[in-house]
Amino acid sequence: MDLMEAIEVRHSVRQYQDKPIPAAVREALQAEIDKANEEGYLQLIIAFDEPRAFSSMMAHYGKFRGVNNYIVCGGRPSPDLQERVGFFVECVVLKAQQLGLNTCWVALTYGKGSCKSLVEPGSKLVCTIALGYGETQGIPRKSKAVQDLCSVNGVLPEWFERGVKAAQLAPTAMNQQKFRFELHSDGHAVSAKSLGGFYSNIDLGIVRYHFQIGANSASEDWRWEA
Ligand SMILES: Cc1cc2nc3c(=O)[nH]c(=O)nc-3n(C[C@H](O)[C@H](O)[C@H](O)COP(=O)(O)O)c2cc1C
Repeated sequence: MDLMEAIEVRHSVRQYQDKPIPAAVREALQAEIDKANEEGYLQLIIAFDEPRAFSSMMAHYGKFRGVNNYIVCGGRPSPDLQERVGFFVECVVLKAQQLGLNTCWVALTYGKGSCKSLVEPGSKLVCTIALGYGETQGIPRKSKAVQDLCSVNGVLPEWFERGVKAAQLAPTAMNQQKFRFELHSDGHAVSAKSLGGFYSNIDLGIVRYHFQIGANSASEDWRWEA
């Protein structure tokens, strides 16, 4: 499964089977976590066979069941911490999908107490990712239209449209999709901005990663602009 396919089949999954993750899959996931920690200057920690964070009232309220594995996402406080978490953790999420696992981003409906102790003193706990073999593969949900997620003068170049379509399938908090991609007048520079909302800086990092995968599947002759 390539990354575009992983994007297409990924949906949030909140109920999991009681099936342990095999050693080889754990190792592959850990390698991806190590890479994300290094490239994104993050503190991502996987808790395997550890149900505490999803045994809380909050987790039940959020309809989570059978979550025995999760990724704790943290890092040193910094203005771009949330966006970096979004970008680099989505790399891990799509890798997990390729490895046959299901996931759900969780910033609110989990027990923070047991996760806080896993991040270094002085670092910030941002969110978690529930992880495991889902009872189902999740379901497709409603999405904003491509034209509502971008601004371009004239016809959309194919690579740009593919980027926006990949971002359209990205998870965002409460499916708010409060982001816009803009293609600048030179036809190559792209900027991405958040339109606000809860956890929207995490969302921005996630949708940037999806855009990159979609756009690069057609052309690499484009660049990010601030
Ligand atoms: C930053 C972020 C935080 C989220 N927090 C929660 C949460 O606390 N509880 C929950 O049930 N889902 C949470 N979600 C999952 C979203 O509700 C889900 O991604 C969205 O509805 C889109 O559905 P999809 O992931 O199936 O495409 C979160 C997603 C993101 C990106």
